[in-house]
Amino acid sequence: MSEAAEAAAVLVDRPEEPVLRATLNRPEAMNALSMPAREALADFARRVDTETGIRVGIITGGPTVFAAGADIKAMVDARPMALHRRGIHRLWQAIAECRKPLIAAVNGYALGGGCELAMHCDLIVAGTGARFGLPEVKVGIMPGAGGTQRLIRAVGKHRALRLLLTGEPIDAPTAADWGLVTDLVHDDAVMETALSLAGTIARRPPLAVEHIKEVALAGADLPLSAGLMLERKSMHLLFDTADQTEGMTAFLDKRRPDFRGE
Ligand code: CAA
Repeated sequence: MSEAAEAAAVLVDRPEEPVLRATLNRPEAMNALSMPAREALADFARRVDTETGIRVGIITGGPTVFAAGADIKAMVDARPMALHRRGIHRLWQAIAECRKPLIAAVNGYALGGGCELAMHCDLIVAGTGARFGLPEVKVGIMPGAGGTQRLIRAVGKHRALRLLLTGEPIDAPTAADWGLVTDLVHDDAVMETALSLAGTIARRPPLAVEHIKEVALAGADLPLSAGLMLERKSMHLLFDTADQTEGMTAFLDKRRPDFRGE
């Protein structure tokens, strides 16, 4: 594939002023994650993280398929040191380290690395026709981008191991029932719902949003006492922002707050 075609493995646009959207664009391979797609997703996450005008990121595969996992064609002959040299974990890390909220908008299959991509996001909006699974065991390997770790934290040991050990996917209503999906909507309403959630979050004070994400995610891996202390310190820190004054004054004045991220 030419460099220009590979560069379009992910399309990035701005559907609304403070929202940046990445759309996987490899329909011929069910949006399997090629290296250019992974690089582009990492760049996207870094943009969301650093650009001040952007408050939320949305990752989608479009209306048919989210992503069918790592590109098996690019892995079939790989040896351990070749995988090590690819350093794919650095690209995942860029997504995991994004300080602003990321929303996965999922239609169709979210399998393997595609399911892991959705789980890197903070909210998962899914259409009723979506399917989530970790089928790596069916191709002789295991998840390598947090599938064994994030899924067990999201849905618990016994449900996670059902997906991990059988490799069989679950449908979106089951995923919602298990707590993997934030909003379960009609297939046609996935992007509209993701944009609506993004819009709501974008109207909240950005520094509070960033601190909430950071503390909630870090706290999930800490003892409760350490998580509570982190929460308390961050909450106190937010009293050093103009948005705290604006939010509380606007409430008392009975008007809408104008949060500037300051
Ligand atoms: N990598 C590369 N190509 C893929 C792919 C993948 N993960 N998934 C699908 N494709 C390709 C197929 O090879 C096929 O290409 P051709 O037309 O050139 O043959 C095309 O996409 C359409 O796929 P199917 O014909 O298989 O479509 P389907 O509707 O019958 O089945 C599917 C859809 C259930 C998603 C099936 O394609 C499938 O099971 N895909 C593989 C899923 C998988 O095993 N994912 C895990 C990958 S490993 C991983 O993710 C590990 C990691 O990070 C460490």
